[in-house]
Amino acid sequence: MRPIILLDSGVGGFSVYKPAKELLPNEDFIYIADKKYFPYGDQPAKIVQERVFSIAQWAIENKAKMFVLACNTATVTAVKKLRKKYSSIPVIGMVPVIKTCVEQTKNGKIGVICTPRTARSAYQKELITRFANDKNVYIRSCPGLVESIESIKGHAVDNLSELQKALLYLKNKNIDTLALGCSHFPLVKDNIQNLAGENVLILDSGGAVSRHIKRVLKNNKDLYKSNHKGRTQFYTTAKPSEFDIMIKRYLNLKSRSKLLRV
Ligand code: DGL
Repeated sequence: MRPIILLDSGVGGFSVYKPAKELLPNEDFIYIADKKYFPYGDQPAKIVQERVFSIAQWAIENKAKMFVLACNTATVTAVKKLRKKYSSIPVIGMVPVIKTCVEQTKNGKIGVICTPRTARSAYQKELITRFANDKNVYIRSCPGLVESIESIKGHAVDNLSELQKALLYLKNKNIDTLALGCSHFPLVKDNIQNLAGENVLILDSGGAVSRHIKRVLKNNKDLYKSNHKGRTQFYTTAKPSEFDIMIKRYLNLKSRSKLLRV
């Protein structure tokens, strides 16, 4: 069966995979963690683009029915060029839920936390100008947070000073809505909520992206209708045994990931 391929630099795409798997139980998935180049947030744009193109090529060779960038950093850096270069496969990206934040905010003050690369990106700036021009949007990057989420020892992210500083800054701005602009962050949403305070509404894009995946497959008449029980294969470009620990930690699955040499 032709799989849906999801790509992230590491475990972040699990925040898309989980709702997508629930919504599409008959589909086969291939999840790719590009751990060799992790974190994308600190990489030059050229490297992120080259990685995304090479893995898209692999997806096409492996007859994928769809290629999902389950990563905000990869999307803001590469999705436009990717769609031009690889028009033979449907590509889905993910961006911070600015539009939903605008619908939900009561006081017009919105926070966004993301990787340094996404914070600097023209793509995110355009999104804010387009949807939130009459709101106050405050963006903070949280260096070190994705590394902490991927740490084998399991660091307590609440103690991360960069995250504490970012949320203190946003609290002082009196935000009432916060967009998680990195696919890794929903995996530690409870910790972020503790630091942000219970009055802040936290939103992420995993649910919306998975509904979009379903909509596009339906429009393309490419959804499986059989009773086939969908399977998932996990690949990583570095250290499969460490990635298996992450699969257990965040998905509670015992799985053997394979090394992908791309
Ligand atoms: N999960 C990725 C995102 O959504 C980025 C993590 C990284 O910096 O590699 O932005």
